[in-house]
Amino acid sequence: MAEVNLLARYPKSKRNVKARVGNKEENRALAMKFGKEYFDGTREQGYGGFRYDGRWIPIAEDIVHHFGLKAGDSVLDIGCAKGFLVKDLMKVCPGLEVFGIDVSNYAILNCEPEVVGRLHVGDARNLPFPDGSFKAALSINTIHNLNRAGCITALKEMQRVAPVGGYVQVDAYRNPAEEKIFLDWVLTAQTHGTPEQWVTLLHEAGYQGDYFWTILELDPAWTITGES
Ligand SMILES: C[S@@+](CC[C@H](N)C(=O)[O-])C[C@H]1O[C@@H](n2cnc3c(N)ncnc32)[C@H](O)[C@@H]1O
Repeated sequence: MAEVNLLARYPKSKRNVKARVGNKEENRALAMKFGKEYFDGTREQGYGGFRYDGRWIPIAEDIVHHFGLKAGDSVLDIGCAKGFLVKDLMKVCPGLEVFGIDVSNYAILNCEPEVVGRLHVGDARNLPFPDGSFKAALSINTIHNLNRAGCITALKEMQRVAPVGGYVQVDAYRNPAEEKIFLDWVLTAQTHGTPEQWVTLLHEAGYQGDYFWTILELDPAWTITGES
């Protein structure tokens, strides 16, 4: 188990944190459905338009390199949304067998054409795959949407289906200032904490894969930068 940032080449985006302070509970309730509003509604409700733009290509390259993936290997993306990373992993490593699972029916129905048939609607806590099915399982900014017990179950499931390769990334904050930004911005996360608290949880789950954090940082103009 190692701390490694496989999203180091993901572009940083700027956000107006104030935009989400009002109407938060209404927007949170909508976002938690992981439907059209969350992906393709307003920025206050979620992504504000979740469209493919190739930004996952460098991350896919780094994932392939990190796990030594090659044609014929199988990879699962848990919380795959519309399948952008699934598509780009197949693009950068032809012959790699990549699949995705996501709780959002909307995301799977609106997936990239190249990944039709590779994505399934399902829950990270109950992966419908036999033990050891994958050389690597990835879960990026997804399991923190579950409560603590759910996170542990999801991590055990990752470990079960991909015992030799895992990468999980979750929201975290390192100090009270970052925690405040996090609480003002984030809509759907149910479990959150410091990197140290997350490491305790990963150990508790018996998770042996790699991990990193999405940390929202304040910039001087009262906007924030981060991964999602
Ligand atoms: C912040 S998005 C991340 C999507 C993608 N991994 C990325 O990094 O762009 C969180 C995703 O987790 C999915 N999700 C939420 N709860 C889930 C669950 N219990 N099982 C599987 N997917 C879940 C949502 O539908 C959404 O697609």
